[in-house]
Amino acid sequence: MSYPIVILGSGRGSNAEALLKAEVSRQLGQASVVALFSDHEDAGILDLGQKYKVPAIYIDPLKKGAYLSEAAEQNYIERIESFSPRLIVLAGFMRILRHNFINAFGGRVINLHPSLLPSFKGADGIAQAHATGVAITGCTVHWVTPALDAGPIIDQKAVRLEASDTLPQLTKKVQLAEHQLLPDVIARMSRGKLAQEPPEGVKK
Ligand code: GAR
Repeated sequence: MSYPIVILGSGRGSNAEALLKAEVSRQLGQASVVALFSDHEDAGILDLGQKYKVPAIYIDPLKKGAYLSEAAEQNYIERIESFSPRLIVLAGFMRILRHNFINAFGGRVINLHPSLLPSFKGADGIAQAHATGVAITGCTVHWVTPALDAGPIIDQKAVRLEASDTLPQLTKKVQLAEHQLLPDVIARMSRGKLAQEPPEGVKK
C-alpha cells in the first residue's frame, strides 16, 4: 500500500533530503516522496528535485511575512492536491497555514520544529534554547493547526546541551536528531504504527 507524501520547505532542505535518502535506502516504510514545494525560488530544497527525480515546484507566496496570500494558499492547495498525498510534511516551511489549507487535506499536515515543544515556539527554536541555557532541548513532530507550533505532538527526540556548546554546535546536534526523528515518524505512520489521522479538533 503506498503512502505518498509531499514536502514543503523554505530553505536548505536537509530534512527533505533525509526523507529522500531514507526512501532510497528503504527506511521510509510505505512512504514515498511525490513532490517538493517551496515559497523561495532559490531554496536548496528545490535542487533536490533533479537529484532525486521528484517534481520540485516553486509557488510565489505573493506576500511577505508569516502568511501566504489567500490566492497563493489556494495555488498551493490545488497543486498539492494534484499529487493526491496522504500526508503533507512541513520541513522548514516558514509560513503559517490557515484552516482552509489544513482542512483541504483532512488535517493530515505535520510540522517539524527544532525544540521540545511547547518550549521555544517560533522561528529560532535552537537559538532560544541556547540563549536560555536549558540542559536538554531537541526536536518535535506535531500535527499542524493554525496556532503556531501548538498542534498535538506526535513524537520528540531529546538532545543534551553541554555548557560549552556554541550555537553552531547545538544547531548541528539538533539537526542530526531531526534527520533521525522525521524519517522514523513518517515510516511508522506509513506502516500504521502511529496515528495516520490527526486527532479530533485538528480539522475544523
Ligand atoms: C529545521 O531545523 C526545522 O526544524 C526548522 O527549519 C529547519 C529547516 O532545515 N523549522 C522551523 O524552525 C519551523 N518553525 P532544512 O531546510 O535543512 O530541512
